[in-house]
Amino acid sequence: MKDGKFVICAIAGSLRADSWNRKLLEATAAMAPDDVEVRITKLLGEIPMLNEDDFGNEANSVHALRAEVEAADALLIATPEYNGGIPGVLKNALDWLSLPLGRSVLERKPVALMGATPGRLGTARSQFELRHTFVFSRSPVLPGPEILLSFAPNHFDEQGRLTDPIVLERVELMFTHLKKYASLNEYEVV
Ligand SMILES: Cc1cc2nc3c(=O)[nH]c(=O)nc-3n(C[C@H](O)[C@H](O)[C@H](O)COP(=O)(O)O)c2cc1C
Repeated sequence: MKDGKFVICAIAGSLRADSWNRKLLEATAAMAPDDVEVRITKLLGEIPMLNEDDFGNEANSVHALRAEVEAADALLIATPEYNGGIPGVLKNALDWLSLPLGRSVLERKPVALMGATPGRLGTARSQFELRHTFVFSRSPVLPGPEILLSFAPNHFDEQGRLTDPIVLERVELMFTHLKKYASLNEYEVV
């Protein structure tokens, strides 16, 4: 908590200028209650491809992203789905964040997931795969609500406001649940 605010570091797993997932995060940030601040990172496009030869000599962007996650009470990811799974650019960033082993900023960091797609399945598969990844970084992932924005282009108005009533309701619930979940998860990881 910083200045009484619950800080959420948010990552949109897409580099696309008109990304639906970034729009979903922006809509989410605009809905944050007064005691929550959502900080959407701009660093994803600057993260280099992971190369173990660079360990100990990481790019500044990697240090900066780690610092953004470390400074937050929780992590929120809005993921696209590519070929039924996590986009490479997002997985690459999470792999960097998972290091150094045993001292990762992801360890014990509560995580909430959401995703948007023009397709029908709402990123269900990439979100499920993300849960698997967070087992390895020992990051507790909020069990629900599931936030799946299918047919995304139909659910934003001309001002970029999110209009899907079910997703709006679930985003509100997510804030409540994530704050509670974070307070429950102050356990020691062995
Ligand atoms: C290589 C590739 C694979 C894709 N595979 C899927 C998929 O498995 N499921 C899906 O719903 N959409 C898939 N899409 C479409 C994306 O959902 C769509 O491009 C979406 O707009 C990406 O998210 P963004 O708007 O945040 O950039 C794929 C797109 C690409 C480029």
